[in-house]
Amino acid sequence: MKLVVFGAHSPTGRLVTAMAMAAGHTVTAITLRPADFPFCDHRVQVAAADAMDADAVDWVVRGHDAVISVIGAPSSWKPVTVCSQIAYNIVKAAINHGVRRLLCVGSAALDAADLSPAALLRQRAMRPVVLASSHAVQRDVRCMEKIVRGNGLDWTLFRPGRLVGRSDVTDYRIVTRPAPRLLTSRVDLAHALVREITQCDYVGETIYVATARRVQ
Ligand SMILES: NC(=O)c1ccc[n+]([C@@H]2O[C@H](COP(=O)([O-])OP(=O)(O)OC[C@H]3O[C@@H](n4cnc5c(N)ncnc54)[C@H](OP(=O)(O)O)[C@@H]3O)[C@@H](O)[C@H]2O)c1
Repeated sequence: MKLVVFGAHSPTGRLVTAMAMAAGHTVTAITLRPADFPFCDHRVQVAAADAMDADAVDWVVRGHDAVISVIGAPSSWKPVTVCSQIAYNIVKAAINHGVRRLLCVGSAALDAADLSPAALLRQRAMRPVVLASSHAVQRDVRCMEKIVRGNGLDWTLFRPGRLVGRSDVTDYRIVTRPAPRLLTSRVDLAHALVREITQCDYVGETIYVATARRVQ
């Protein structure tokens, strides 16, 4: 398949790119930092594009079979619109060019909003600074998820837990309900994304990747 990967230079995006190439796909890798993109291969084409720019996104999405987005934004005290604006641009371009399949990475942290008020208060008391500065990003990611779900594409949303670095793919589980204290390794997340692009097991679903102790 011809894939376009947004956030291809992120730690997870680089793994997605490598695994997609290994699986026989070609990748258009979108990054703000093309100069030090680590892959030089006939199966990968690097495109320098600011995904906040709708015209740039429209241009890069054209001619592909599917889109994977691992766009993320750093914590901020100010309102953030990176994930939602980019999702809007991607969805618009995908509809425009008849690209139906869209895989997007959100965050299991959004489930904190479903905690009881008492549990939320306990969390805030323990980590007030972190929670306050990540609140704006979570609002943006929630808005991104709404945009992805609401436009009639063949979407799958991935909600990883806290991301960790591991070298090997584990015997990870995909679950469709929030899992407490979820831990997701980037290599498992990348593996699950590349697998889902062809398997299409979770079209129209929000899924969680739970990293295991045992490697595959
Ligand atoms: N860290 C965690 O514990 C955690 C937990 C849950 C979910 N997540 C989500 O998991 C995903 C992967 O996380 P990660 O830590 O591997 O990556 P990351 O550090 O969050 O990388 C974010 C990526 O977004 C890209 N990006 C941001 N603004 C852009 C713009 N205007 N145009 C084009 N690209 C833009 C960056 O591009 P460049 O590299 O080209 O600058 C970067 O590759 C993200 O969606 C993140 O939100 C992370």
